[in-house]
Amino acid sequence: MSAAAPQDGRPLGLLAELTYRCPLRCAYCSNPVAPGAYTGELALAEWCRVLDEARALGVLQVHLSGGEPLVRRDLPAIVAHAHRLGLYTNLITGGHALSAARLAALTAAGLDHVQLSVQDAYAAEADAIAGRPVHARKLAAAALVVRAGLPLTVNAVLHRANIGSVEALVALAERLQADRLELANAQYYGWALLNRRALLPTREQADAAEAAVRAARRRLGDGRPEIVYVPADLHDDLPKPCMQGWGARQLTVAPDGQVLPCPAAAQIPGLGILTVRQSSLDEIWFRSPAFNRFRGTDWMSEPCRGCPRREVDHGGCRCQAFQLTGDAAATDPVCRLSPHHALVTEIVREAGERPAEPVPRRSPPAR
Ligand code: SF4
Ligand code: FES
Repeated sequence: MSAAAPQDGRPLGLLAELTYRCPLRCAYCSNPVAPGAYTGELALAEWCRVLDEARALGVLQVHLSGGEPLVRRDLPAIVAHAHRLGLYTNLITGGHALSAARLAALTAAGLDHVQLSVQDAYAAEADAIAGRPVHARKLAAAALVVRAGLPLTVNAVLHRANIGSVEALVALAERLQADRLELANAQYYGWALLNRRALLPTREQADAAEAAVRAARRRLGDGRPEIVYVPADLHDDLPKPCMQGWGARQLTVAPDGQVLPCPAAAQIPGLGILTVRQSSLDEIWFRSPAFNRFRGTDWMSEPCRGCPRREVDHGGCRCQAFQLTGDAAATDPVCRLSPHHALVTEIVREAGERPAEPVPRRSPPAR
């Protein structure tokens, strides 16, 4: 593929980050650390216009996320508007604020799917990570979702303090009658990057988690839950195909209306990010500098430029390349061919030599 914007290439998914507000304090939160990010949320009418424009652009699925999207009282109206447009709606929530009445309102509005996060399989450990006693309420919310007949995905972010809980998390998801269990190693952006020292698992932990996932899949066969496993990126030597390519499949609208090629892209300087208050989604997707900057392959330099995997992993993650090398156009240092790969192996080696530290909390909590 050339670097030219794929004029007929349209996004399939919209990640609608409705708010960065959240009462929980998970240290691995990927939301931005900058306090300025918590102001100027789009109003209901603006979100409805964004959904109209997304549907016209070709989007089929909208993921309603945050922060905690349930803090927005107008969430059912947003879901209803998306549903009227024929969009598949997925609510990504911590679930602790999901009462029977709120779920009924969302179901009546046409909600299609719920992805509910848990911090661990064990209440005390989970509540310690969340910074509040919410685990029991999350389990109650999961039961409500199943009773309402909605498909349920249980999501757990894995890190050094809970990565040993894979078997228990599978058992929990079975008890909750979840359709899917997503076990995703922490991605080191935002607060997670800040707290990487305490969060990064050792190589032995990462290997043991993968073995536990393989064993659980063998045991479950074709049964439920389906297990989706997102491996520990930094422990690998080939990069993840981040976002399935920049400006290729999905776009993110941040709470203040910034339209981003990925949720972490605002940290990359000079992208020329536009907001939905400045331009239409169509204009931004096809013609904005931010979406065209790393689209395709022409922006690549060696070793990616001549590599047969360039169409497979798209050179890895632009944000990780920027965070680790200061150059967003560099090969993702996770790649063994990157001249900066030693940075990553050193980070993982160090983690293996350090005793575990208490997991900090995101602080202060976003309001
Ligand atoms: Fe991927 Fe670039 Fe590494 Fe090749 S050199 S495997 S394209 S990151
Ligand atoms: Fe931004 Fe990977 S998180 S490109």
